[in-house]
Amino acid sequence: MKWIEAANYEEMSKIAATIFKEQLKLVKTSVFGMATGSTPEGFYKELVKAYQAGELSFAEAKSFNLDEYIGIMPNNEASYHYFMDENLFNYIDMKRENIHVPTGNPKEIATATAEYDAAIAAAGGVDIQLLGIGVNGHIGFNEPGTAFELETNMVELTQSTREANQIYFDTIDDVPTHAITMGIRTIMNAKKVVLLISGASKQEAFDRLRSGEITTDFPASALHNHKDVTVIYTGVK
Ligand code: GLP
Repeated sequence: MKWIEAANYEEMSKIAATIFKEQLKLVKTSVFGMATGSTPEGFYKELVKAYQAGELSFAEAKSFNLDEYIGIMPNNEASYHYFMDENLFNYIDMKRENIHVPTGNPKEIATATAEYDAAIAAAGGVDIQLLGIGVNGHIGFNEPGTAFELETNMVELTQSTREANQIYFDTIDDVPTHAITMGIRTIMNAKKVVLLISGASKQEAFDRLRSGEITTDFPASALHNHKDVTVIYTGVK
C-alpha cells in the first residue's frame, strides 16, 4: 500500500485526478471504477476541467460505479446516478452506453447483481477503482462484517452509515435501509485502487487502515491484500 499525504483537499483531488488522466492518456479504452460521496467531488472537478481544456477525451472509456441506494430512482437528487451526472457525466464525452451505475430499482435487484459483475468482466475488468471510506471503514457500501469473497450484492445499511449519509436526505426515515454495492471481491479485482481519505471525521478509519490489521470488521482492510493500492490522504495524521 502506497501512502501519499496531500497538503490539502485540492492537492489530494489533483494527485488522484493525475493518476486517472495518465491512465486515460495511455489507454483510451480504460475502464474506471467510480465512487460517490463528498470526498471525490474535487477529483471530479479536476477531470471535468481537464476534459474542457481539451487535455483528454473519455469517448472510448467506460465506467462502473460502486453502489446505489435501493428504492431511490435516478431522477432523485439523493441518488448516486444523479450525483454522478451532476459531478461528472453531464460534463464529459463518455458515451451513455459506457456509463454504468448499479440499479436502485427494487424490481431489478434479483438479476442486477450478477449482471453487474458480468458487465465488468465483459468490459475487461476495472483498470483503476476510485474509493472513499466510510467512518466505520466501509468501502462502497460493504459494511463491517461483510465477507471478503462477495461480489456485487444487496446489503442492509448500518444505522451509523444511514446517519452519516442523512445530510443528503430530509429526515433519517428518508435514508434507504438497503443498497446495492460492488462486493469486496469485485473491488479487489480492479487492477489498481486509489483510495481517498479526507478530514478529521476519518481519523479513526485512517488509523485502523494504517495499523495493517486485516479483518472483516473493517472492510477497507481487505485492500492490504491488493498489490496496487494508493492511499491519498489529507486532514488526518
Ligand atoms: C457512502 C458511499 C461510499 C463513500 C462513503 C464516504 O457511504 N457509499 O462509497 O466512500 O459514503 O462518503 P464521504 O466521502 O462523503 O465521506
